[in-house]
Amino acid sequence: MKGLFITIEGNDGSGKSTVIASLKEQLAKLNVEVVYTREPGGSYVAEKIREVILDNDNIAMDDRTEALLYAASRRQHLKETVYPALELGKIVVCDRFIDSSLAYQGVARGLGIDNIYEMNQFATEGFMPDLTLYLLVDPQVGIDRKSNQKELDRLEHEKLEFHTKVYNGYLELAERFKNRVVIIDANCSVEEECSSVNKIVLDYIKERGLE
Ligand code: TYD
Repeated sequence: MKGLFITIEGNDGSGKSTVIASLKEQLAKLNVEVVYTREPGGSYVAEKIREVILDNDNIAMDDRTEALLYAASRRQHLKETVYPALELGKIVVCDRFIDSSLAYQGVARGLGIDNIYEMNQFATEGFMPDLTLYLLVDPQVGIDRKSNQKELDRLEHEKLEFHTKVYNGYLELAERFKNRVVIIDANCSVEEECSSVNKIVLDYIKERGLE
């Protein structure tokens, strides 16, 4: 496909939304069309799946069901939103993708990275991002940031132990996917975080000749 697929990952409270907003301002200056989307969700059907996954009433949800729903949402989102944009040569910036499943379901839920990777192959047919940024913040700091912000969803209600596993999961994945992953230290000020991300993404886009 002609475009570029860039995914932004991170543990809860890592400042992802602010970083993506800042990136949006920077990329608006370029001469290329950029689509901003998110997982779970990002298309009509996938947003419906998102509601089921994050609903606080769904306390009975089994871990494997959760993993399958994320993968189902991913499949639909790829078909409806991501592939069509990439075919047209656009840059797609996606808030979370397969690495979230590997860290949250694979590591934190204990289902195993390899199992989740394998299961996702059916949904993605091996399609992976060109570039992925992991925004990593100390898990307790992340929880504190989130709890000041808004009403928490089902995943955000998890305790420190869960979020620590997610954090460690990302570190393990960064090692495994060295070729496409860059770690950003999100313990600094949000301004510093944004400027690091903007620089890395802009340099990458230039390198790939897409500006
Ligand atoms: P969201 O409100 O989008 O949170 P955030 O701002 O942190 O991205 O909720 C998404 C939640 O779903 C988040 O806690 C991470 C989790 N998640 C998974 O567990 N597995 C996945 O595959 C994806 C895409 C997200």
